[in-house]
Amino acid sequence: MTEPLAIKFSEIDTSAFPAIEGQIAAFADTDGKMDLPTRRLDRLTRGALSRAVGSDAFGKLKEAEGMILSMPHGLKAERLMLVKLARRPDPLTARRAGCWIAAKMARKPLTVLSGAKAAVEIAFGLALRAYEFDVYKVAKKSEDNAAMPREARILVSNPEEAAAASRDRAALVEGVFFTRDLVNEPANVLSTTDFAARLGAMQELGLDVEILQEEELEKLGMRALLAVGRGSENPSRVVVMHWHGDGDVPPVALIGKGVVFDTGGISIKPASGMEEMTMDMGGAGVVAGTMRALALRRARANVIGIVGLVENMPDGRAQRPGDIVTSMKGDTIEVINTDAEGRLVLADLLWYAQEHFAPSAMIDLATLTGAMIIALGHHKAGFFANDDALAEALARAAAGEGEGAWRMPLDKAYDRQLKSRLADIKNVGGRPAGSITAAQFLQRFVKDGTAWAHIDIAGVTLPPEATDCAPKGATGWGVLTLDRLIRERCESKG
Ligand code: BES
Ligand code: MN
Ligand code: ZN
Repeated sequence: MTEPLAIKFSEIDTSAFPAIEGQIAAFADTDGKMDLPTRRLDRLTRGALSRAVGSDAFGKLKEAEGMILSMPHGLKAERLMLVKLARRPDPLTARRAGCWIAAKMARKPLTVLSGAKAAVEIAFGLALRAYEFDVYKVAKKSEDNAAMPREARILVSNPEEAAAASRDRAALVEGVFFTRDLVNEPANVLSTTDFAARLGAMQELGLDVEILQEEELEKLGMRALLAVGRGSENPSRVVVMHWHGDGDVPPVALIGKGVVFDTGGISIKPASGMEEMTMDMGGAGVVAGTMRALALRRARANVIGIVGLVENMPDGRAQRPGDIVTSMKGDTIEVINTDAEGRLVLADLLWYAQEHFAPSAMIDLATLTGAMIIALGHHKAGFFANDDALAEALARAAAGEGEGAWRMPLDKAYDRQLKSRLADIKNVGGRPAGSITAAQFLQRFVKDGTAWAHIDIAGVTLPPEATDCAPKGATGWGVLTLDRLIRERCESKG
């Protein structure tokens, strides 16, 4: 796994400022005021910081952005990053300030002079943004061994307190990085079996991990899921991760679409951009990263993570358009388009989750439809829910973590688009409302009385640009939201 930045909180010692090597990040309020240690730094540089703060450029900065001063007088450090941040910033803004520093830092030792400010959130942002998936940059690495600083020092007035408050966030960073690595991995490396093995290794953390092979899936009747993987040399797997942190209360079930590569199958996709379909296991990646974070921070909650790992390939054995498959529920599905495969996988996982675990709530995540990107672009995931309380909790959790999420409608009226001439339902509903008909399809596999939400993360899993807290590439969108949802729903009682 990509190793997170090692962050060390230590006491502020102004006498050591001149000798700090590499780069220093410091903060000034939106009105330009600096705290005492920062003013000391200003004096050492003969007022470089106050000149910067007085400049037009500083005035124009948004909060959580900064400017960079090179070769400051009076310091050994070669770079000084001056970030605009309110005296009492809200947590997400402080986090973004940390992200800004990580995005602009050079490959040199880093010291952040955070003082009394929201050091823990700044550190969290720093860690989240300091991610680089460079396992395959072999040539670059041999030239320049240290790709990125591997550690950072944060100077605070209360180091022990900050370190203690950072522990859970460190677990989250690991969860997010685990998800990003999985999503960034190419499909020749992250096959269904390799993915399952990486999840199996999480037993070490105290998770119970069950890996279901094809024969067992056959016995369970997961024919819709198995049909998707039939064209691949890589066998299908379902992995069930159990985190038992709260006695015998009914668990929350997290369910993820794990299509390790989606060619479209016989309804093959156009060549252009097909390489992006290595990210079609993003839902499974988020479930895995969340389970990892919950285990690392020993959450007081019962959570089951279930992922369906399949590869959608065209082949002589692949399913065809027009095939009719029987789902685990027993309903028959006419497969009009083999590229609408995610819903076939999820249909069986949703049913399995309800039959085996009677969850108090069930949340699935999937890079399910291109139509979701047309609707909401890359800034917000769309979610659907049959339960207003769950929907509101989910929206609140996402807002609290600064992860965009927007509720979309479910409505029986859309079911007409899924009527099949031959079977109980067909797997596509035409172009209009493509994300909604996909959700309506899934809802058919949700029992009355099960609180359920479906999050279509097609647009947010691998956006075309860097985001505030992630470099270009996989974002890990959803790990923070789900972790917060679990915290608020399961762990805040009593
Ligand atoms: N994995 C894709 C959806 C997708 C597209 C995710 C782009 C991320 C980026 C999914 O399996 C798919 O192919 N959906 C089809 C459904 C259609 C055939 C009804 C789509 O969106 O075109
Ligand atoms: Mn597809
Ligand atoms: Zn897909």
